[in-house]
Amino acid sequence: MWNPSSLEQCYNIMDLRALARRRLPAPIFDFLDGAAEGELTARLNTAAFDDIALIPRCLVDVTAVKTSTHVLGQDIAWPVFCSPTGGSRIFHPGGELAAARAAAQAGTFYSLSTNSTYSLEEVAAVSAGPKMFQLYIFKDRDVTRELIERCKRAGYQALCLTVDVPVVGKRERDLRSGFGIPIKPSLRLLAAIGRRPGWALRRLRDKPLSMPTLTARAGSDRLVGQMKFIATQLDPSVSWKDVREMIELWGGAVWGEGQLGGR
Ligand SMILES: Cc1cc2nc3c(=O)[nH]c(=O)nc-3n(C[C@H](O)[C@H](O)[C@H](O)COP(=O)(O)O)c2cc1C
Repeated sequence: MWNPSSLEQCYNIMDLRALARRRLPAPIFDFLDGAAEGELTARLNTAAFDDIALIPRCLVDVTAVKTSTHVLGQDIAWPVFCSPTGGSRIFHPGGELAAARAAAQAGTFYSLSTNSTYSLEEVAAVSAGPKMFQLYIFKDRDVTRELIERCKRAGYQALCLTVDVPVVGKRERDLRSGFGIPIKPSLRLLAAIGRRPGWALRRLRDKPLSMPTLTARAGSDRLVGQMKFIATQLDPSVSWKDVREMIELWGGAVWGEGQLGGR
């Protein structure tokens, strides 16, 4: 099996996955690669792409092809965009800043997570590309309303409303590895980090992980306090009524993340 050791040796998504596995301590790779509840949905989602066959129409002039499309009021260069990924700096110090820059360079949307390790304003400052902000409807609706106002001021073009986290998912790989917030130190975890000294060095040189978008509301600039804040703010009562309010307050393009139903 192909085991790339650099980005230059990556030719598809599976190669990038193999490189991440090579560079990240196993529990952190599992946090990135894993999913909830036996991971059946993740497998089905991936397999669904195999059901789509592209039928090439030969003997057509393809000298000038067009991959651009129009999504959420923006022209993007190709029909793929980055969905929100919290905690990106744990994978690489460049974190969300690097990903947002790369998305802008590739001419597509970057979606910034509420759980980001750079603030929504910091990300807006480095990327002129199309950006959407991922939002939870928190128990304290004022926190959500305030985030919407901040996104307007910072120049985000769309909102991504995450509606599939009434409670946190049961991520079984993380339960097995003990990787969570706060990280529970164990010999196994230390050994896993020891096997990836490059990652450990980059982490030591980087500033401590935190989620600065939430610092003021969480009343803490530390990750543990901020994670606790989010955990207490997830609201299982969120319904279409709340979604309508947030859409109206935003007044622009909205993307829904999660299975929408039960209208
Ligand atoms: C490491 C990781 C972090 C994620 N963080 C967030 C997040 O902070 N907010 C969110 O709404 N979705 C988050 N997601 C969910 C993704 O945006 C996406 O919806 C999900 O991974 C399904 O898409 P996929 O099948 O392409 O992975 C995260 C996913 C991963 C793998």
